[in-house]
Amino acid sequence: MAETSKTATLTLHGETYELPVLSPSAGPDVVDIRKLYAQADVFTYDPGFTSTASCESSITFIDGDKGELLYRGYPIDQLAEKSHYLEVCYLLLNGELPNKTELEDFEYRITRHTMVHEQMHNFFRGFRRDSHPMATMVGVVGAMSAFYHDSLDINDPWQREVASMRLIAKLPTIAAMAYKYSIGQPFVYPRNDLGYAENFLNMCFSVPAEPYKVEPALAKAMDRIFTLHADHEQNASTSTVRLAGSSGANPFACIAAGIACLWGPAHGGANQACLEMLREIGTVDKIPEYIARAKDKDDPFRLMGFGHRVYKNFDPRAKVMKESADEVLDLLGVHDNETLQVAKELERIALEDPYFVEKKLYPNVDFYSGIILEAMGFPTSMFTPIFALSRTVGWISQWKEMIEDPTNKIGRPRQLYTGATTRDYVDVSKR
Ligand code: SDX
Repeated sequence: MAETSKTATLTLHGETYELPVLSPSAGPDVVDIRKLYAQADVFTYDPGFTSTASCESSITFIDGDKGELLYRGYPIDQLAEKSHYLEVCYLLLNGELPNKTELEDFEYRITRHTMVHEQMHNFFRGFRRDSHPMATMVGVVGAMSAFYHDSLDINDPWQREVASMRLIAKLPTIAAMAYKYSIGQPFVYPRNDLGYAENFLNMCFSVPAEPYKVEPALAKAMDRIFTLHADHEQNASTSTVRLAGSSGANPFACIAAGIACLWGPAHGGANQACLEMLREIGTVDKIPEYIARAKDKDDPFRLMGFGHRVYKNFDPRAKVMKESADEVLDLLGVHDNETLQVAKELERIALEDPYFVEKKLYPNVDFYSGIILEAMGFPTSMFTPIFALSRTVGWISQWKEMIEDPTNKIGRPRQLYTGATTRDYVDVSKR
């Protein structure tokens, strides 16, 4: 961490405290309050962590005002256009783009970890067929701790690496199995002769009864969606993974916790909620009614896929996703897609509305992704599982960075207590 001579002065209860100010390589300065409680016997208060840096990281940087997203310094639009998901995985995990040999070795190793232990098939049969695939994924990924005993020791660098490879490799297989199970079709095994995204599409959409060929352009669009979702700084699910990992929990349990957190409609569940909202709006003429509801303080309705804690400008991922939506629908011969028309008109109207302009609410990564995924043939229930499998590399990269940080300690926030102060027990006969 870049220490500086800069300090912040806090005057409290007649005392003055000098707090170090840390300078990042990008983004705002950070006031270091680690010793504040010991020095001044006070806590800081920031329930939604709107002004709090929970850790030091060198993986992903977001400039919310400019609408920029960097993975290890590389802009997301360049990676989406010129790279591919497994190369981005290597970059996030290792900090540098791989050379040809490193990339070939990485892809070889991932490809050969894509099968799950055959006994794990039994886990799926314990779920109702109509279970949400996210419920299945939380359960099955957590259960990986019961199978891969040779990659549970977080203090062994080799076991940390094996666990990371297994998670990146097996999440698409588990997501595809969750989908197949939900539609009553047999599981399709991964194939080593297919690319990462191609393999996932094949496991989801092929059936034993006939040959299936993945359309290369769709595989490329799928791969791009994986890249756009790969990491995103200290979002809610990544913070969940870090907090779980800070106790020393094994990586499979930590990723299961991240999947559980991502499921919420305010977070990764927004892609499913957004498409369902667009369907509910149905036609362009209904948009004003929903815009009014989104602005009504007494109505809990929010425009799903809109707004972001960090982006106060366009989410750069939404821009790439919007271009991809046009390409994919065109490729699939889906013209005049009503949902896409509603989405584009909703975006146009919202971005001209003072409410959204003043609050700097723009489309986020979840606004267009569902339109592409639906056009590819996925049900809305598979949207968040696809987000989860994409984000696994980000979660595990952030987890690895934390575990390898020698200053790492268990996360244990304090509170602003406003409950009852000490009082004596009163027997029930006297209450
Ligand atoms: C993801 O953090 C990440 O990086 C997440 C993510 C990632 O890659 O990991 O980017 C993925 O989760 C994207 C966000 C997906 N969620 C949605 O699309 C759900 C709809 N969006 C909102 O619920 C909301 O915008 C959040 C949750 C995304 C952000 O909430 P904040 O930062 O806590 O902002 P807020 O709730 O305090 O809102 C600020 C104001 C409020 O009005 P006031 O109380 O100030 O008058 O803006 C309003 C809100 O009511 N507002 C919205 C709105 N989002 C915020 N009003 C209508 N529709 C919306 N979508």
